[in-house]
Amino acid sequence: TPVILRSLADLRTVVRSWRAGGQTIGVVPTMGALHAGHLSLARAAKSGCDRVIVTIFVNPKQFNNPGDLAKYPRTEAADAALLATVAVDVIFAPPPDEVYPPGFASTVSVSGVSAPLEGAHRPGHFDGVATVVAKLFGMTEADRAYFGEKDWQQLQVVRRLVRDLNIPIEIMGCETVREADGLAMSSRNVRLSSVARAQAPALHAAMQCAAEALRGGVPVAAALQGAVVEVLAAGFSAVDYIELRSAALLEPLERLDQPARLLAAAELDGVRLIDNIGV
Ligand code: PAJ
Repeated sequence: TPVILRSLADLRTVVRSWRAGGQTIGVVPTMGALHAGHLSLARAAKSGCDRVIVTIFVNPKQFNNPGDLAKYPRTEAADAALLATVAVDVIFAPPPDEVYPPGFASTVSVSGVSAPLEGAHRPGHFDGVATVVAKLFGMTEADRAYFGEKDWQQLQVVRRLVRDLNIPIEIMGCETVREADGLAMSSRNVRLSSVARAQAPALHAAMQCAAEALRGGVPVAAALQGAVVEVLAAGFSAVDYIELRSAALLEPLERLDQPARLLAAAELDGVRLIDNIGV
């Protein structure tokens, strides 16, 4: 099983010995409660790098809602057992004080791509993500970092961050892993009742249907409105957004004339689900 390190000093010792030996390092940042989506990132890291660090840190700074932070699942022993099956080298699971010691005063804020969609619905969320990700890159000294397309906007924020701050790390995007019925895997899915779990795939289904309509020339507003109606009819209580955006900058698109992404967030059974697909 992978060794679990809790202090930055211990992590530095291991990382410096790897680097001295000329080994490449991959990092997979996570908040734990691992599922097959996270494992696919760890597997990609294993095949692309000599050594792999999975970080497990439920980052308080990215939770705009304190209740959500308190409810976030913590399953470290099970996580370690799963990561052992992928032969990850190190789990870095620091306590909050190790990451944010008394006196911590810096925030990394990526404007533009952080503003719409999740940024608009979760104030401060991407500042918290950008801050912790910049720190994890500095702490792990990794050559490559693996992120899921599941959080498409986060992936674009991180790409912008490393370019803007000249952080010497390569960002690798990995495809969203889904349940057999299309529901994107998420640590939050376990909070769905069995009735809601059966309704949940309607979000992805509606998005696929809208993407098909868009490719067939249906006007953007009509295709998106159709998806909203479908999702609400399936039992979702609210749709935060279903939007067509440019793939990298996430600018609104009036027509399908460049690489585009369909992104959605909707609430079901008190659980907020997000998803996105390429169009
Ligand atoms: P977390 O939600 O734990 O996700 C960790 C990584 O797993 C992210 O890159 C996310 O996109 C990826 N992931 C989640 N579900 C996935 C799926 N179904 N298929 C593929 N990849 C998936 O995202 C975070 O944590 C945090 O914001 C973090 C980057 C760790 C910063 O705190």
